[in-house]
Amino acid sequence: MSKTIKITDDSLLYTGSATRLLPKLTAGMRVIAVADENVGRAHPELLAPFEHILLPAGEQAKSLRTAERLYAELVEREADRSSFVLGIGGGVVTDMAGFVASTYMRGIPFGFVPTTLLGMVDAAIGGKNGVDFEGYKNMVGTFAQPRFVVCDVALLRTLPDCEFRSGLAEVVKAAIIGDKDLFELLENLSFQQLRTCSAITERIIEAAVRVKAEIVARDATEQGERRKLNLGHTLAHAIERCAPQYSHGEAVAIGLHKMAEKAYRIGLLDRRDTERIPSLLHRYGFSTDLPADMEQLLDAMRKDKKRIGDRLYIVLPTAIGKVSVYPETFDSIRELFA
Ligand SMILES: NC(=O)c1ccc[n+]([C@@H]2O[C@H](COP(=O)([O-])OP(=O)(O)OC[C@H]3O[C@@H](n4cnc5c(N)ncnc54)[C@H](O)[C@@H]3O)[C@@H](O)[C@H]2O)c1
Repeated sequence: MSKTIKITDDSLLYTGSATRLLPKLTAGMRVIAVADENVGRAHPELLAPFEHILLPAGEQAKSLRTAERLYAELVEREADRSSFVLGIGGGVVTDMAGFVASTYMRGIPFGFVPTTLLGMVDAAIGGKNGVDFEGYKNMVGTFAQPRFVVCDVALLRTLPDCEFRSGLAEVVKAAIIGDKDLFELLENLSFQQLRTCSAITERIIEAAVRVKAEIVARDATEQGERRKLNLGHTLAHAIERCAPQYSHGEAVAIGLHKMAEKAYRIGLLDRRDTERIPSLLHRYGFSTDLPADMEQLLDAMRKDKKRIGDRLYIVLPTAIGKVSVYPETFDSIRELFA
């Protein structure tokens, strides 16, 4: 059974079988699909009905060089404003496909079929598209909404456990930001249940998507409330720079724990809720220890692209399901992390 969630007025998310939904959603359109080699191998049935372009897998492909290659392919195939780009893959592919589609000929329509948990609950939702530039993540990009996002949990069966776990960190983040019932549900589930029971996985994905979609609907271009979605991410990005062996999800898990500790220290979060956060993260196999020394991490945070002047917006939980955003100077951030 397919369900629909409104992300914005012009962007809808459908849950259900992608092979059943796509023919309806793309009827009458010339579709050019973009995927990576792993997804092409794992899900040839998704690509078979469409002209398609395969990219190498991995973050390195999220570059201006790949964008140029895609523009060249689109020109070669005589794609025009009535063509439709369909990004099928994890966040790397959907960020890349969305970026190219929203800039080619000043923007052609596009849609996504996320194939990772992170893609379903985060990367494919909300209209941020972009590429990395000179070592800085998502430095060049656009705000443009996909016409549709198709979330088919069956596609996650082929996803390696480590990638699934990485996406779970974003589900926990969504629960802390805006859904205490989702947090409680996660406290009563196991990694194995989430991996094997599609109905449960679909339920947690829908809940996490709703948290993000509601915030994006109120602040699509991150002028205010959308900053809440950065919970744990300023520290996580610093960890990814200083300790590149950490996956994004592993770094986010540490960021979530540290923000809860900071919130407790300054009296924003009570002890019980503070303890529930690392306890849930450990339940799903995350470590919450800092992998590098704090000075090094603070230095990396200073270079965060979300810095405005000498200020960074820090997001702190005030309860499970509630966060507040604080503009802080580096000196006060240093004090907070001392
Ligand atoms: N636009 C946004 O708002 C937003 C939000 C969060 C993250 N992101 C971006 O998302 C990217 C990370 O996304 P990701 O974690 O999905 O990584 P990814 O796209 O690199 O996918 C992870 C790995 O899983 C493979 N894979 C994907 N689906 C598979 C499947 N169903 N079966 C087997 N293998 C599969 C991929 O080939 C890749 O090797 C980063 O570049 C990040 O910046 C964007």
